[in-house]
Amino acid sequence: MSIHSAQNFDGWAADYDRDVRQSDADESFPFAGYTRVLDAVVRLAEARLGMSLLDLGSGTGNLAARFAALGCAVAGADFSAEMLARARVHVPAARFVQVDLLGGWPPELNRRFDRVASTYMFHEFDLPAKIRLLRRLADGHLAPGGRIVIGDIGFPDAPAQDAARRRWADRWDEEFYWIADEAVPALRAAGLEVSYWQISACGCALLVTPAP
Ligand SMILES: C[S@@+](CC[C@H](N)C(=O)[O-])C[C@H]1O[C@@H](n2cnc3c(N)ncnc32)[C@H](O)[C@@H]1O
Repeated sequence: MSIHSAQNFDGWAADYDRDVRQSDADESFPFAGYTRVLDAVVRLAEARLGMSLLDLGSGTGNLAARFAALGCAVAGADFSAEMLARARVHVPAARFVQVDLLGGWPPELNRRFDRVASTYMFHEFDLPAKIRLLRRLADGHLAPGGRIVIGDIGFPDAPAQDAARRRWADRWDEEFYWIADEAVPALRAAGLEVSYWQISACGCALLVTPAP
């Protein structure tokens, strides 16, 4: 299950980077710690020159730009035409593909990547859909020794999310934020190794690899 449509994101694309910068700067929901979350994703990916990298839900290209600057061969995937139009201008070195990641994937994505990364998209999906997508990536799209790195909105546990909901009641959206003490055991039960870090009051990073 997913919350928003491509049209919802088309309507946000023009203001997206401004909204992110504002929320990151004033440490407010939902993008408090955005820069640090993207920094953590890049660090955890340990990506090197020439590696292939797939950026899921690439938006305006903020994460793709970082990996392209490291010399990775970046493919970005997103279902919003308006987000993709901005990403193509922002990161001309990357290739961007329009796809609903919960549906069938086009031929150019039917391959394995050294790294898969994603920021601020997985909270669109409920936990079963998160796990299905991660299993699909681990089984069919990750090269041997590869890693999946996610930055997103998340909390250590449900009480922490409840506190954030009260703190930011004026701007809270009810979506499928990571709840670490539920998600981590569920991912492990699905055969995935996972580590979770709390980066800001509502920002987190996860490193996911197939269990050996
Ligand atoms: C909040 S933005 C994050 C953009 C970027 N990764 C960042 O960190 O700034 C979420 C992005 O995920 C995309 N997205 C959400 N659900 C998707 C789906 N089912 N398939 C493909 N893209 C999706 C949206 O179009 C949007 O560009």
